[in-house]
Amino acid sequence: MRIRVCLFFPLETWSSLADLIKKTGHAVSNWVYLGGVKAFADGSLGSNSALFHEPYADEPDNYGLQVTEIESLFNMTMASDKSGLQVAIHAIGDRANDLVLDIYKSVATTGMRDRRFRIEHAQHLAPGAAVRFGDQGIVASVQPQHLLGDADSAIKKLGMDRAEKGSYLFWSLLASNAKLALGSDWPVVDINPLHDIRISMKRMPPGWDKAWIQSERISLADALIAHTISAAHACFLENDLGSLSQGKLADFVILSTDLWEDFAAEGSAFIEATYVSGVQAYP
Ligand SMILES: *[C@@H]1O[C@H](CO)[C@@H](O)[C@H](O)[C@H]1NC(C)=O
Repeated sequence: MRIRVCLFFPLETWSSLADLIKKTGHAVSNWVYLGGVKAFADGSLGSNSALFHEPYADEPDNYGLQVTEIESLFNMTMASDKSGLQVAIHAIGDRANDLVLDIYKSVATTGMRDRRFRIEHAQHLAPGAAVRFGDQGIVASVQPQHLLGDADSAIKKLGMDRAEKGSYLFWSLLASNAKLALGSDWPVVDINPLHDIRISMKRMPPGWDKAWIQSERISLADALIAHTISAAHACFLENDLGSLSQGKLADFVILSTDLWEDFAAEGSAFIEATYVSGVQAYP
């Protein structure tokens, strides 16, 4: 295996995971890390099951689906947190994100700790939610590739105004000091991180001639940080991964260009070589 994985297990299994980590620690090896626990607050935009404060524009009685009961989500988050586990919860709609932010806020009142609570996807946020991510120190773990397919459907399902104000708020999250960790969501979409880096900079859906929510584009430097050191930080792995620094594992790529402009243009920068633990793995 030439790829490092940080595993998240179903939230319901928190107590077995806590026992296992007590025995083995988080690092099973330099390849396999026991991360934390993961649960689902809602469904997806594509199936009209992401949970929103307002109904779907194309289905006026449908607000989406809350897939886990709040009280049990809260109880299990609390129990996991008490046993030292990191918790990640899937939330796509604005209401699901607010519910999870509420849960994280109440759990955090039990005392200061470096928790790095995560919300997976955080795709559609209500006004003020980006600021809450920052204030509460929540990791927004977002996958830019999904915005390509969501741009047209979000406008249809949420209406222009809600879609524009709340979707994939990369810039707003960073401006609110939220911890933005970007990634691919492979195997649902392509694994190549260069796509996601470009998409977070350009936000250009196929067939469009302008960016979707121009003001939420981020710079190459911010996109790289979100894909590397911030992604490592979101897994408590920033001491091993995420930057080229003494004592870290020396995973890096060599690109065909060092010009930022080339990099941003699709197809004009590619990976010439990949090193894993300092050893050439590709080509
Ligand atoms: C949550 O925890 C409370 C307090 O321990 C308990 O009374 C309640 O039954 C639990 N609810 C669920 C759904 O687990």
